[in-house]
Amino acid sequence: MAHKTEFLYLSEQDTIKAGVLDAAKCVDNAEEVFTLLSKGDYLMGGSNHNSHGMGLVFPKESPFPNMPVAGPDRRFVAMPAYLGGRFDVCGNKWYGSNAANPSKGLPRSVLTVTLNNKDTGEPLAFMSANLLSAARTGAVPGVAARHLARKDSEVITVLGCGQINRSCLRSILTQLPNVKKVVCYDIFEAAAEKFLDWEKKELGIEGEVNLDLGQALKDADVVTVAASRLKPLYVKDEWLKPGVTLLITGPMQSDDSFWMSTKLIYDNVRLHEAYVQEAVESGDKAGYYKGVIGGPIYTLIDAGKMPALKDSTSIGEVILGEKEGRTNADERVTFVACGMATFDVGLGYDLWKTALEKGIGQKLVLWDDPYQK
Ligand SMILES: NC(=O)c1ccc[n+]([C@@H]2O[C@H](COP(=O)([O-])OP(=O)(O)OC[C@H]3O[C@@H](n4cnc5c(N)ncnc54)[C@H](O)[C@@H]3O)[C@@H](O)[C@H]2O)c1
Repeated sequence: MAHKTEFLYLSEQDTIKAGVLDAAKCVDNAEEVFTLLSKGDYLMGGSNHNSHGMGLVFPKESPFPNMPVAGPDRRFVAMPAYLGGRFDVCGNKWYGSNAANPSKGLPRSVLTVTLNNKDTGEPLAFMSANLLSAARTGAVPGVAARHLARKDSEVITVLGCGQINRSCLRSILTQLPNVKKVVCYDIFEAAAEKFLDWEKKELGIEGEVNLDLGQALKDADVVTVAASRLKPLYVKDEWLKPGVTLLITGPMQSDDSFWMSTKLIYDNVRLHEAYVQEAVESGDKAGYYKGVIGGPIYTLIDAGKMPALKDSTSIGEVILGEKEGRTNADERVTFVACGMATFDVGLGYDLWKTALEKGIGQKLVLWDDPYQK
């Protein structure tokens, strides 16, 4: 019996046609994924089912002339996942990153997503995923804004004016209709100005650049953090006002007093437990912690100064009404998100389905019949 296998190829333009820039829909998709995470209806890599992904680690030097060596932001990472619920599909995000890419007219990272039939392993779709990945990353704090931010929030401060925060801001604004001002902060004034111009034109909210971090945060009702690691970002406790919602997507340091006093909600507690487990297994816990967003928090947990991860809250539990999120207008609520392949698979799945319905993309043949059976 012949078994033809076809899959759908989606270029970046195709993913746009399929709705990758529709931030409100991406937030809904991410919210649904969060509920599945809370129920446990998913798998990610590793024996703990919760690994963020597996990277190729390049050596500092190599006797082989063609072998890649370590360099700024230079890595390859595979992020596999199974996602349950109506998705019921396996997939993998695979990307290569190199700080030298922009000088070649390329984004720093080049990403693709593959979706596979969970039983046979046949590919269902292969798609460009730079926009997909940014959209799913931004949609995650969008969900947090929906459930944790004060509805009367008027001022949003953006820390780190890069591509990811564009996507975060786009998503957050779909949830907060009363926002009147966007404050842009970056270590580079030009990056902050460029972000402000973009956001005024595309999102239509008034704003300003403020390069004094304390001043930039003074009136913030919501703060979205997605700075790169060019320079450590240190946010003092005293700069964050009562009632603020801090949405952390990139690394940030703060005073112990801040971490210990804010109400902390995680994207998925199990992911953070996996990070801590991987840190222990690495043999250099402190070094490992330095490279992950939750590092400052895990350090305080290890010291017994903050509740253990097992006693903490994932946002899925808040969405499902199983645990409390914000309980009053004055508490400072912090949401920490580290990125999970489940979101790439979830959004990739909806883009694939839309593309199939609308005839977007190209069908490619893996085989008319497998040569080897
Ligand atoms: N949680 C997730 O799912 C997820 C996914 C993708 C990327 N990220 C993280 O998001 C962050 C931003 O990624 P990007 O692709 O937008 O990078 P980018 O290089 O496009 O932009 C980052 C910006 O941060 C600025 N910056 C660096 N250090 C700063 C500091 N101390 N204070 C203020 N601004 C500073 C840079 O000047 C730059 O403008 C990275 O840390 C990345 O690892 C997180």
